[in-house]
Amino acid sequence: MSKKQPDHKEGGREEAKLQSPKGMRDLIGEEYYRYQGFFEKAAEVAIYYGFQPIETPMLESEALFYHGVGEHTDIIEKELYSLRTKGGDRLALRPEGTAPIMRAYFEHGLQSQPQPIMLYYHGPFFRHDNPQKGRYREFYQFGLEVLGSGKSITDALIIRLVNTILTEAGLPNLTVEINSIGDRDCRPIWKRELVNYYRKHVKEICADCRERLKDNPLRLLDCKQAKCQTLKAEAPSIISYLCTPCKQHFKEVLECLESMKITYTINNNLVRGLDYYSRTVFEISITFPESNGVSATPNGTSTAIAGGGRYDYLAKFLGSKKPVPAVGAAIGVDRVLAAPGIANLLPRLIKKPKIFFIQLGTEAKMKSLSVIEILRRSKVPIAHSLSKDSLSTQLGIAEKTNIPYAMILGQKEVIDNTVIIRDMRTHSQDVVDLTKLAEHLKSLKS
Ligand code: HAM
Repeated sequence: MSKKQPDHKEGGREEAKLQSPKGMRDLIGEEYYRYQGFFEKAAEVAIYYGFQPIETPMLESEALFYHGVGEHTDIIEKELYSLRTKGGDRLALRPEGTAPIMRAYFEHGLQSQPQPIMLYYHGPFFRHDNPQKGRYREFYQFGLEVLGSGKSITDALIIRLVNTILTEAGLPNLTVEINSIGDRDCRPIWKRELVNYYRKHVKEICADCRERLKDNPLRLLDCKQAKCQTLKAEAPSIISYLCTPCKQHFKEVLECLESMKITYTINNNLVRGLDYYSRTVFEISITFPESNGVSATPNGTSTAIAGGGRYDYLAKFLGSKKPVPAVGAAIGVDRVLAAPGIANLLPRLIKKPKIFFIQLGTEAKMKSLSVIEILRRSKVPIAHSLSKDSLSTQLGIAEKTNIPYAMILGQKEVIDNTVIIRDMRTHSQDVVDLTKLAEHLKSLKS
C-alpha cells in the first residue's frame, strides 16, 4: 500500500477509510469457501425436493418492502437502507427475500404455470441494526418459497427442508418452535382482545410496548423486557381464537411434523417480525455455549437460525386481485456457520492443488501457461509463483504449502519437451514427456 493516500478532501469528499462499513465484512479464503460450501449443500437438498433457483436484485423499489413487510415493523421503521437514485427513484437494499420473490412471481407471469412454484435463493441481505456477534448489517440467507398452494403439506415441506439442510450441515439439537397466528377472519377478533387487555394494563408496560400497542399490537408478544413478562404470560392466546379452518390447518401441519418425527414446541407468543404472515409461523433455534456470545434470548444461550411461515396475503398487499397462498423460510447462514458442530462443507469447485509448478529461465516462463493449460484440461489443480525466478525461492514456497509434488520446467526440459516431477516428501524425481504428462499425473498418489 502506498504511504500517500489520495486526498479526497479537496473535492469535498471524506478521505477513503480502508475498512468495510460497520456491520459488514469481506469473505475471503477459508471463510469464503465455508459460505459457498453451505450454499451448495443447501441448494443440493432443495433441488432434490424439486425447487428451482432464482436470483433477484440487491435493490428493489422501497415501496415493495413498505407494502410487503409492513410499515410498522422494525425492519421498515428502523433497519431499511433506502436511497434516492440520481434519476429520482426511491430504492432500498433488500432486507429480506420474500417480497422480492413475490414481485418476481408476478413480473414473470409464474401464476400461469402449474402451481405451486417452488424457488430457492441465497445471497446478502441488509438491515441497519445494531451489529453484534451473530447480527450483521449485511448478512447471508438461504431461502425457500412455495408460491401458489395453501395446503398444509407445503408448510410441512418447508419445515422439513430447513430441518434437513441444518441437519446435513451437522447441527444437532435444533429446537423447532411453531404457532398459528390465524387468518383475516379470526385474527382481528384475537387482536381486538389483545389490545383491550393491554390497554387495561398500559401503565405497567414498557415504552416500546406502548408504541407497539398503537402500531403493531401482535409484536407486544415479542417483548423481552422483564417488566412485561407476567402480563405477556396472561395475555389472550391466539389458540383460543383460531377459526375452524385455521385450527384444522394447524392440526394438519403438526400431524405431518409428527409423522416425520420432527420434534416441535408450540409457542403461542411466536408472532415473527414481518407483517405478511398468516396461519403457520415457525422458528428454528440452536443453543450456543455462553462463551460463544451469540444470543437472541434473555438467557443468552439460544439464537434463531431460521424462520418462516405462511404468507397468504402478501400478494394482495402488493396489489394482486387474486390471492396467492404461499409459505417459505429463510436460514441465517452467518449464524449457522458460527454454530458449534457445523460440518466443514467445502464447495465442489475447490480442489486442493496436487502440484506446485516451478519454472526456470525465460523460455520456460514463456512456455509455463501452455503447460498449466495441459494440466487444467486434465483437471489437475496446481499452485505456482510465476512471478518468481529463482529455483530456491520457488521450492521454498512449495515446501511451505505442503503440496505433495513439484513440477519443474527448466531450459533443458523446454528443449526436450519434458518436465521433472519431484515428490516433495521423498525428493525422488522423474523426467516425464509432456505428451504423457496427463497420464503420469493420474498415477501419482496424493
Ligand atoms: P427473518 O426471521 O427476518 O425472516 O430472517 C431469517 C433468519 O435470518 C433469522 O432467523 C436469522 O437467523 C437471520 N438473520 C436475520 N437478521 C439477521 C442479521 N441482522 N444478522 C444475521 N442474521 C440475521 C425473513 O427474512 C423471512 N423473509 C423468512 C421467510 C421466507 N418467511 C417466509 N419466507
